Amino acid sequence: MKKIRKAVFPVAGLGSRFLPATKANPKEMLPVVDKPLIQYAVEEAVAAGVTDMIFITGRTKRSIADHFDKAYELEHELDMKNKHDLLKLCETVPKHVNCIYLRQAEPLGLGHAVLCAAPIVNDEPFAVLLADDLIDAEPPALKQMVDVYNYHRCSVLGTMNVPREQTRQYGIVSTLTQEGRVQRMTGIVEKPAPEKAPTTQAVVGRYVLTPQIFEHLRNVQPGAGGEIQLTDAIASLLKEEAVLAYQFEGTRYDCGSKLGYMQAQVAFGLKHPDVGAEFAAYLKQMNEKAAG
Ligand code: UTP
Repeated sequence: MKKIRKAVFPVAGLGSRFLPATKANPKEMLPVVDKPLIQYAVEEAVAAGVTDMIFITGRTKRSIADHFDKAYELEHELDMKNKHDLLKLCETVPKHVNCIYLRQAEPLGLGHAVLCAAPIVNDEPFAVLLADDLIDAEPPALKQMVDVYNYHRCSVLGTMNVPREQTRQYGIVSTLTQEGRVQRMTGIVEKPAPEKAPTTQAVVGRYVLTPQIFEHLRNVQPGAGGEIQLTDAIASLLKEEAVLAYQFEGTRYDCGSKLGYMQAQVAFGLKHPDVGAEFAAYLKQMNEKAAG
C-alpha cells in the first residue's frame, strides 16, 4: 500500500487580490502573526507524514526557497549571541524533509501547476495544499484526510459548507448522500451561480489525489484565460474512479482575500503565547470604545 509521502504546493499564482503587497513578494510569504502562510501549510503536511515538499513556483517566489533554506549568517549571529530560542525559530523545516522547487513558466491555472509536479510525483498518490487556505484544526486537516485516504484508498477533497451566495467563489461538489463527513462524490462544478449550484458544499485548498489525475489534467481543455482547471480534471477522474468529499473538522480562513486574512490574524493573534492576552485586552478596549 502506497503511503502519502509527497505534497504539492502550487505557489505560482499572481496574488492580484493582495496588490501591492504581492507585487514583489509571493502571497504565501504573508505572515499570520509571525509565521508565513506557506510554513503553516508545510507544518500541516509534515504532521500528515509527508516527507517530500514540491513547490510549484513562479516569478517573485525566490523568497519561499530562501525561507526553507538554512540562513547561515543570521543563524551564526544568533548562535554567537546565545539566542537559542530565536535560533530554533529559524529551523523552518525538519531535517528529514526534502524541499523540491519547480517553476511554472506561465500561470496557466491551478490544474497546470499540479501537472508540473507529475515528473516528481510519478505513480504515487499525493497531497495538494493551497497555502492561502489556512486551516486551524486538530488533528490538522491534511492528517484527517490522509486517514480517510488510508481507509478508502481513493482521492479525497477537503470540503466545507459555504453560504449559498458565495458558491461563485468555489468548486462545488454533489454527493450521493448528505450524511456524515465522508461522502461519495457524483459531480463537481467550478464557480456556479448560487441559483445553479447543486449544493453548498465547497472544495477548499486540500486534496489527496491518485496519480491518475495527471492523465486527466493532460486531456482537459483549457478554460477561460487559457487556464487548466483542476476541477475539470477531477470531474473527468470521477467518471473512472471513486472520489470522496470530506468535510474536515476545523476552521478555514481564506487568506487569499483581505477579509479572511484579517480574520486569521485576529484568531491566531488571540491564541499566540507571546501576545494573545495583551491582544485580547486591546480588542476588548476597542469594542468598549466602539460601543461608546
Ligand atoms: P488563486 O485562484 O487564488 O489565484 O489560485 P492567485 O493568482 O493566487 O490569486 P488572485 O486570485 O490573483 O488574488 C489558487 C492557488 O493556485 C495557485 C495559486 O498560487 C494559489 O495557491 N496557482 C494558480 C498556481 O500555482 N498557478 C496558477 O497558474 C494559478
